[in-house]
Amino acid sequence: MLDLFPDTASIADGELRVGGRRLSSLAEEFGTPLLVYCEATIRARARAYRAAAPDALIVYGTKAFPNVALLRLLAEDGLGADVSTLGELGFARRAGMPPERLVVHGNNKGDSELQAAVESNAAFVVLDSLEEIVRAATAGVRRSLIRVTPGVEADTHESIRTAHVGSKFGLPPDDAIVAISAARTAGIEVAGLHVHVGSDLRGLDASLAAVDRLAVFSASCRDELGWIPQVVDLGGGLGTRTVAEDDVLSIEEYVSALVERLAASWDRHGLPQPRLVLEPGRSLVAAAGCTVYHVGVVKPASEEVTYVAIDGGMSDNPRPQLYGARHTALLANRAKERPAGRFAICGKHCEEGDVLIGEVELPQPRRGDLLAVPSTGAYTLGMASNYNGVPRPAAVLVRDGEASVIRRRESVEDLLAYESG
Ligand code: LLP
Repeated sequence: MLDLFPDTASIADGELRVGGRRLSSLAEEFGTPLLVYCEATIRARARAYRAAAPDALIVYGTKAFPNVALLRLLAEDGLGADVSTLGELGFARRAGMPPERLVVHGNNKGDSELQAAVESNAAFVVLDSLEEIVRAATAGVRRSLIRVTPGVEADTHESIRTAHVGSKFGLPPDDAIVAISAARTAGIEVAGLHVHVGSDLRGLDASLAAVDRLAVFSASCRDELGWIPQVVDLGGGLGTRTVAEDDVLSIEEYVSALVERLAASWDRHGLPQPRLVLEPGRSLVAAAGCTVYHVGVVKPASEEVTYVAIDGGMSDNPRPQLYGARHTALLANRAKERPAGRFAICGKHCEEGDVLIGEVELPQPRRGDLLAVPSTGAYTLGMASNYNGVPRPAAVLVRDGEASVIRRRESVEDLLAYESG
């Protein structure tokens, strides 16, 4: 179980520690719910990507958690950012992300988003539809990738599959070839191709099939248009373990398989090797983060279920409701005690479905205990809401016993500031 927590996690004197800090002292200082990010874990993940693909440009899928401090840290380690809205672009710019490492996405970019991409000198704008090509040219876009939808089914939840026939993203090969011509006619350089097969991938099959299909597509572009991609962006997608039974490839295994397949597939079609871009989000930050909650009401609801209610829930982590995500937990302040039974962890929201963990073994929980949920660094705070008027949690970054606030806690006053009266 400890291996699901950040790399620096340990148990000392019965207490869970991360980055040299007891979670109980962080909860006391910063309140709960609290997202605790471990700097060493994020840097290790970033370096693992760079080591596995030394010649590639690695850009952080900012949507996993748009945060200026994390973007700065990743930029220091040589990473760039994939952004898909004005907001995400704003975060990346505030972090001082070098423009030559910025990739701008979006299946429905507005003119102002296209203009902002141009103003920020982003390395690539990824064209996602035929409709946007003329608007992109008018906005001044000069360098692009074309997003191809190769028709592969990723091994993941259906809401986060993105390269199957009928996806709202990108262009199927027949339209993509038209887009390449149209963009070039409009004066936009098409540097290469992009594909993102899906997120939280468990296996490699869809990613490898997508590489093969891109090679076939590239060969037909060469034959029909005399154009070949100099850049191939394979998106993000590698999953992360959230419960002990999960089996997920390591960064090294996943990236080397992609790198090898790209080289082999391109060779088979006699194509010159392209520059690789990867866009990992979850696999950089999920395991680096854990959420700490205070236990409140403990209620035996039936012979089968005892609920342990926490001071957060679906407003700070909607993934169980959206994707059936599974989580596990430890009592951070009594981390060495033996389990007393199985408990359901529910949130404080006014919905029966606000259950974070259906069943987890814990020592008998008591009001005031701290519940730590590992592997919550991606798509939690970034997808948090104010449901039930609940302010969003704070996030801290820990390193060598020091903690700094990287996202301040919202207050009810913050929420009221948006109101008209
Ligand atoms: N590149 C593109 C174009 C993407 O659309 C995404 C994620 C990424 C990169 C990063 O993918 P990652 O490495 O994080 O899998 N809210 C969902 C995940 C949605 C992912 C959307 N796109 C969740 O909580 O599972």
